[in-house]
Amino acid sequence: MASTRAATDRRTHIVGWGMAVPERVVNNHDLCTMVDTSDEWIRQRTGIVERHIAGEGETTFSLALRAAQAALEVANLDPAQLDLVVVATVTPDYAFPATACLLQDALGAEGAAAFDLSAGCSGFVYGLSVVADLIAAGGYEHGLVIGAETLSRITDWTDRNTCVLFGDGAGAVVLQANGAPGGILASVLGADGSGKDLLIQPAGGSALPASIETVQARQHTVQMDGRQVFRFATRIMPDASRRVLAQAGLSVQDVSLVIPHQANDRILQAAARNLGIEEERMYSNLSRYGNTSSASIPMALCEAIDQGLVKRDDVILLTGFGAGLTWAATVLRWSLPLPVPVPSRQMAFWRSLRYRWAQLRSRWRRWWRWADAHLFQILYDEEGRRKRRKHE
Ligand code: UT7
Repeated sequence: MASTRAATDRRTHIVGWGMAVPERVVNNHDLCTMVDTSDEWIRQRTGIVERHIAGEGETTFSLALRAAQAALEVANLDPAQLDLVVVATVTPDYAFPATACLLQDALGAEGAAAFDLSAGCSGFVYGLSVVADLIAAGGYEHGLVIGAETLSRITDWTDRNTCVLFGDGAGAVVLQANGAPGGILASVLGADGSGKDLLIQPAGGSALPASIETVQARQHTVQMDGRQVFRFATRIMPDASRRVLAQAGLSVQDVSLVIPHQANDRILQAAARNLGIEEERMYSNLSRYGNTSSASIPMALCEAIDQGLVKRDDVILLTGFGAGLTWAATVLRWSLPLPVPVPSRQMAFWRSLRYRWAQLRSRWRRWWRWADAHLFQILYDEEGRRKRRKHE
């Protein structure tokens, strides 16, 4: 599927960004005490040196909330102005309700629709494309797109083939409609479900519901054919990148920075070679975070912006691949002057009040629902008819 936004005046721009990672850092040497591996193997074969791992009480939602609040701060936006909250994740807090709903409630985004999106490591770019199109179509003004994961919760810590690769984190962007030139220019999304077994969490769904046997067989953890995914990635990333650039009427030479999914430095090097761009234009922070699935692209984008690698009018290419199999690429022209002004204290204070208020409102609603259910039983019968008093 491809979409281009050149024909309309209404465009979608990134106006806020933020990321969050757990405090706890696990380096390659720590992993050597858990599985038969070495710092040298992990560095040479992947480029990863350390990763952040969620601590007790930290979840995909709590990381997403921190990233979202940081992004709203940069955008200087009242969460009540959000129309859409989309969380791309393969590690939601619950199968349902959606993590996006927890976030909508915690942010006090009272007017926002909220849903999760599952497209593996391509999830964030899928979400970005979907929300950008919805905004450009005219129905919505502001959207929040988040890629957030706690992969450590579905990692088999006895499997050296996978446990050295993954990390936890979240990245968020705020999208806004306006008529300024630039913004999201085009997207290419794709899937090939015949590759479903190459990267899968087999149990916990309707195909293999949770049971003692599935837990004992570690079927609730990530299972991956690394070599096959590697070969797929090196082919699909350059292919999707070329196609999205063609859609936008641009060439590889126009691209200032590529923000690829951070899975393996060797994949990034192969993609750079294949695309014919210097490795310096291919952003990598893999060494510090490992593969954070749908969080990796927004986290890398945040860091690239904060490191001054993004300037106004730069063409930025986001490209990813992952479980499904899926792939996605988006090209955008950066339209915001950087650095953004520090938000007024008043607005920051207002947002902090909004978060407090959202907490209170949520508690109050839960209490009211409980009270309503009990009062309802006293006053009404099961069909909803008001009960008659004895003397009536
Ligand atoms: O986000 C999308 C999801 N994932 C990916 O994108 C991952 C894509 N794949 C990869 O990044 C690479 O395929 C891996 C990093 C997973 C593996 O690297 P590789 O160069 O493809 O290694 P391999 O699977 O071909 O294994 C080579 C050897 C094997 O030993 P033998 O059979 O040759 O004796 C493995 O058992 O390396 C061994 N090995 C390890 N050795 C030390 C595998 N994992 C480890 C390890 N430490 N952690």
